Amino acid sequence: MVKSLEQLREDARACQDCPLWANATQTVFGAGDPHARVMLVGEQPGDEEDKKGLPFVGPAGRLLDRALEAAGVDREHVYITNAVKHFKWQLRGKRRLHKTPAQREIDACHQWLEREVEAVKPRVIVAMGATAARSVISKDFKVSTMRGQFVESPLAPYVFATFHPSALLRLKDEAEKEAAFAQLVGDLKLIRKALGRP
Ligand code: URA
Repeated sequence: MVKSLEQLREDARACQDCPLWANATQTVFGAGDPHARVMLVGEQPGDEEDKKGLPFVGPAGRLLDRALEAAGVDREHVYITNAVKHFKWQLRGKRRLHKTPAQREIDACHQWLEREVEAVKPRVIVAMGATAARSVISKDFKVSTMRGQFVESPLAPYVFATFHPSALLRLKDEAEKEAAFAQLVGDLKLIRKALGRP
């Protein structure tokens, strides 16, 4: 039986299938249009997302908003989630710094992503960054060389990967940042192509 997103969100609140729940404030489940034709998948909640309980509401989310707008994709009509639903972090001074999730944590969380896909039934899935690509596409997917191309997937008719918005935030050189932003926007335009929109 396919459970509703509301039921899944409720079930996921109690998830202890990997150790990450212990240091996180809460499970950050996906959010957005429950009937979206587009699902965006990130890595894991960041510090702000962990506190607010919503995906992509911090700096990476703001960059994503700009990229979606530039690509002509309305965030209101998108469902956004993460490959891993708990914030993994380490303390540096007073700051909780993001730590990349391990494959076993991505694997443990994959069931929730599968169930979200079953409930939303998106036409297009976009994996943003290496962790999402490992979860959505395959463990040896290389975002740097394989991004921006549709790949075969049992999850949805159209699936592709692109950069993670946080990767752009880490770039120091302004010209490099601008070029990467243009590539991200170019990739996100594939969403409109997949939906048959000009
Ligand atoms: N980075 C992610 O991958 N997901 C979020 O929700 C926020 C930052």
